[in-house]
Amino acid sequence: MISKKIAEPILIHGSNFRLESFNDKYVTEEYVSWLRDKEIAEVIISANPNVTIENVQDYCQKMMESNDNYFFAIVMNANDKHIGNLRLGPIDYDQRSCRYGMMIGNKDYHNKGVGSEVVKLALDFCFQTLGMHKVFLDVLEHNKPAIKIYEKNGFETEGIQRDQFYKDSKYYDVRIMGIINPKERNTK
Ligand SMILES: CC(C)(COP(=O)(O)OP(=O)(O)OC[C@H]1O[C@@H](n2cnc3c(N)ncnc32)[C@H](O)[C@@H]1OP(=O)(O)O)[C@@H](O)C(=O)NCCC(=O)NCCS
Repeated sequence: MISKKIAEPILIHGSNFRLESFNDKYVTEEYVSWLRDKEIAEVIISANPNVTIENVQDYCQKMMESNDNYFFAIVMNANDKHIGNLRLGPIDYDQRSCRYGMMIGNKDYHNKGVGSEVVKLALDFCFQTLGMHKVFLDVLEHNKPAIKIYEKNGFETEGIQRDQFYKDSKYYDVRIMGIINPKERNTK
C-alpha cells in the first residue's frame, strides 16, 4: 500500500505503445488541436474551440506537480507519436480510491484496441502498484466506445446522473462507473 506519490518517472509497457510519465515535450499544438476537435468536444466536457496552448501548458504543469495525480502520455512505440493522455487522480490515499480519465486525441488511433489496453494497464497499476481499493469515473452516456472499454475491463455502472452537464444548449446524462480491487471484493 502506498501513501504518497511515487517520485520517479514511470514507464508502463503495452503491446505497441507505452505510458510515460507526462513530460513538457508533449505540450504541443497537436495536443491543443485534439481539444479543439468537434468530435472530441462531444465527449470531453473541457474540450472546446477556444482552448489555447497556455491552457494546456497550465493544466499539464498542475498535473505533473500534483501529489495526488499520475499523468501519463500515451506514446506509440513504432513512431514515438504522442496520441493521448491518461490521468489517474485525484487519488484519496486514506480512502484508497482514484478517479480515472483518458483521452486518445489522435483519432487515427481510435478503434485499434489501444484504449482497452490502456484501461487494463492502468487498473493493474492502480490495484497492484498503488494498492487502491476502488477506481471510479464518469462518462457521458452517449460515449459508447468509452463505456464499452470500461465494461470490458470490469467497471460496473453505479448510476446515471440525468441532465448533469449543460453544454452548447443541451443537457447530457452522465454514467458513473466504478471497479473494486478484485482482491478486496466481498470484504464487507
Ligand atoms: C473512448 C476511447 C478511449 C476508446 O479508445 P479506443 O482505442 O478507440 O478503444 P478500443 O479500440 O480499445 O475499443 C473501442 C470499442 O468500442 C467499440 N465501439 C466503437 N464505436 C462504437 C459505438 N458507436 N457504439 C458501440 N461501440 C462502439 C469498438 O467496437 C470497440 O469494441 P471492441 O473492442 O469490443 O470491438 C477513445 O475513443 C477516446 O479517447 N475518445 C475521445 C475521448 C474520450 O472519449 N475519453 C473517455 C472519456 S470518459
